[in-house]
Amino acid sequence: MALQRWIFGLSTFAIGAAAIALDGDVRGEGDHSGYAPVQPIAFSHRLHAGELQIACQYCHYGAETSRHAGIPASSICMNCHQVVRAGMDAVLAEKAAAELEQRQVRPVESVELRKLYDFLALDSELKPLPGRAPLAVPWQRVHALPDFVYFDHRAHVSRGVACETCHGQVQAMERMRQESTLSMGWCVACHRASSPALGTAAGAPDGPRLEEHVSTDCVACHY
Ligand code: HEC
Ligand code: HEC
Ligand code: HEC
Ligand code: HEC
Ligand code: HEC
Repeated sequence: MALQRWIFGLSTFAIGAAAIALDGDVRGEGDHSGYAPVQPIAFSHRLHAGELQIACQYCHYGAETSRHAGIPASSICMNCHQVVRAGMDAVLAEKAAAELEQRQVRPVESVELRKLYDFLALDSELKPLPGRAPLAVPWQRVHALPDFVYFDHRAHVSRGVACETCHGQVQAMERMRQESTLSMGWCVACHRASSPALGTAAGAPDGPRLEEHVSTDCVACHY
């Protein structure tokens, strides 16, 4: 599916206000792999990173240069969703229905994207609603190390450790979930199996131990 298909001639109005689902599972103690809280907007990595092939760092641009990969602000979404206001299937279905009923094509707006526009306080023509301030989307955090652990994306991503090594097949996830345990054993096993000069020589946490490996000193990860 090409993004270019969307650049032309999509004009839409609003249909219906959105109900905002804010439930998220409670995160308990211990191993959180598999944790996948419901998000306030049904954002799909499978669609964006998989089908549309948008690069991870288009949205998570901090990953290579800073400690945190970061969650994108809504303005990044609006680079596309100012124009793309519904899924391709819904747009095509409306076109077909209009043809069959011999009437004008009506504008289509996605219920999920309406939630984004509501957070941004935008009306049916995507103009700011008077008297309403935009709100950040309250995305539910999925991964969370304890405060006493130091982790830095830059150290890993700039050394060529791929996102998938730690986060799994994100391109296939309809809803984001934690793939790895994020336990101390998981971190240390990969450090033992990785060469500091070449990044991950073994590539996987269950690879061989190396003579000269990435630091497993307590202070590397604990202040
Ligand atoms: C179009 C923007 C966009 C792209 C492209 C994208 N993401 Fe995301 N990502 C988000 C948003 C928004 C969230 C927060 C909502 C959620 O968790 O689904 C998120 C959440 C995440 C999280 C969980 C964050 C947490 O709370 O712990 C991870 C991990 C992640 N993305 C990895 C990736 C990887 C890896 C890729 C590429 C394969 C990628 N993302 C591509 C927008 C994007
Ligand atoms: C070596 C393992 C590893 C790699 C490689 C990695 N991550 Fe992460 N990621 C983590 C851990 C661990 C956390 C939780 C950090 C915390 O709680 O402080 C995390 C958290 C995140 C988050 C939540 C927000 C944040 O910044 O903490 C996002 C988004 C994310 N990763 C995206 C990515 C993307 C995109 C890539 C590839 C460019 C990537 N990660 C590569 C381990 C990794
Ligand atoms: C680079 C362009 C691009 C960016 C950036 C982008 N999207 Fe999308 N998104 C699309 C396209 C294109 C579609 C429609 C795909 C289709 O169904 O044909 C889409 C579809 C969606 C849908 C599904 C609509 C439906 O009901 O079918 C949601 C929800 C969504 N995006 C949310 C977001 C959010 C939230 C962000 C920001 C974190 C974001 N998108 C960033 C291009 C983008
Ligand atoms: C898949 C392999 C892998 C996993 C999993 C992994 N790391 Fe790393 N880590 C590396 C590599 C490779 C480096 C780069 C070493 C270098 O640049 O010399 C690194 C570097 C670091 C550094 C910088 C150390 C230094 O001496 O500069 C810290 C801190 C760190 N990792 C913490 C963590 C923590 C905390 C976790 C678990 C939450 C973790 N890592 C999980 C492979 C991994
Ligand atoms: C490569 C990173 C890394 C190194 C090196 C490391 N730790 Fe940890 N440690 C972690 C992570 C991640 C956790 C959190 C585990 C969790 O939340 O399940 C942790 C948790 C702990 C805890 C809390 C109890 C527990 O087991 O959850 C203690 C105590 C601890 N580490 C001590 C040490 C000591 C002592 C050393 C040196 C011998 C060390 N760590 C080296 C990453 C590391």
